Amino acid sequence: MPNLVILGAQWGDEGKGKITDYLAKESDMVVRYQGGDNAGHTVVIGDQKYKLHLIPSGILYGNVPCIIGNGVVLNPKSLIEEIKYLEDLGISLDSLMISDRAHIIFPYHIEIDRLEEEARGKKKIGTTVKGIGPCYRDKVERTGIRICDFEYLDSFEEKLRYNIRRKNDFLTKYYEADPLDEDKIVKEYIGYLNKLKKYIVNTQPIIRKAVNEGKKVLFEGAQGTLLDIDFGTYPYVTSSHPISGGIPIGTGLSPYDLEKSLGVVKAYTTRVGKGPFPTELHDETGDYIREKGFEYGTTTGRPRRCGWLDIVMLNYSRDINGLTTMAITKLDTLSGLDKLKICVAYELEGKKIDYFPSSLETLSKCKPVYIEMDGWKFEDIEKANTYEELPENAKKYVEKMEELTGINAGIVSVGPKRSETFIREKLFI
Ligand code: IMP
Repeated sequence: MPNLVILGAQWGDEGKGKITDYLAKESDMVVRYQGGDNAGHTVVIGDQKYKLHLIPSGILYGNVPCIIGNGVVLNPKSLIEEIKYLEDLGISLDSLMISDRAHIIFPYHIEIDRLEEEARGKKKIGTTVKGIGPCYRDKVERTGIRICDFEYLDSFEEKLRYNIRRKNDFLTKYYEADPLDEDKIVKEYIGYLNKLKKYIVNTQPIIRKAVNEGKKVLFEGAQGTLLDIDFGTYPYVTSSHPISGGIPIGTGLSPYDLEKSLGVVKAYTTRVGKGPFPTELHDETGDYIREKGFEYGTTTGRPRRCGWLDIVMLNYSRDINGLTTMAITKLDTLSGLDKLKICVAYELEGKKIDYFPSSLETLSKCKPVYIEMDGWKFEDIEKANTYEELPENAKKYVEKMEELTGINAGIVSVGPKRSETFIREKLFI
């Protein structure tokens, strides 16, 4: 069973795209299991930058089967745009497969996401306004429309018209918004789904067969552990399960199929959107990290909040995901700083704690307890061609992360290019 889970161990944006791409080359199949086009993965190959939202990074290797699993919520319009974007760059989409069990995002989901965010005022979640939450809500409420519904066009149209009327009722009466154009949506979506028809398939037996045959299957998580609907900083989370527990549900495998779990960890912490963030920096060091690390959203362009590495959170993430290895990314961003801090515990009402609290009120009362380390102020990390060539203090920082988490750093990345990635452990068996 040489399959491998790769997921964000923090609040997303850990640089998973690059690491996934690196491993995708070695994979026989790459599978997305949750989220939607709220995700943004940037992959740099040579001088070419690719921005992916829904399609697994394996697509950049031509014949690696790439699956959008049933746990994903799919915006067909944005998928068609992504397909076109890749085709224009000469990438073949022949190996793309979309689960017929995935739920579809419609314009009413996006409109509701927007209006609800507006109505929350100061309590806004800071969503990507891609309709993710409202689509998952319909799924759980059992009123969602799945891709397989499209096979029976009459009933698909009937369900869609019913939903649009219901949502229009809500939009006009509750938000006093303009109603959405029913006929236009129906026509547009039939058009989109017709275009995507050739990619639609029941993906569960395909993934099962690959796993049974001992193929190297890579499960690609979007967002991050702290954005998980159950284990994240609720309600400032996304509406899916980015954690490894999301894989059986989002693909149809069993929990016993999962093997190695690689957590992608940024050498510091960032988050977008609202919610408590114990190690957040509100000073010039935070600004320095933001500018040096170009910490702006791939999907929304929003500036990310930046702070020191948080081991309490990382160990929580290790335990939830069963992390067996870390990929440490963006170590180069910390270059030039005199001193670095790592949060090793929280202080809560005068007591030291080492667990991640469930309640946001409690979390916002937690003060980070730091250890301090020397930085590598004048050394040029980008010049290193191997891990061994990294500045001494950079290696000490990595080793401290390993010591504090008890997990090896199997991959260390010091820049966006493939050549700036040091592989220290064979990840696929
Ligand atoms: P939603 O997923 O659009 O509903 O947004 C919910 C929360 O998840 C917000 O705080 C978003 O900023 C965050 N979020 C969603 N997708 C990503 C991502 O790919 N990276 C980082 N944060 C994300």
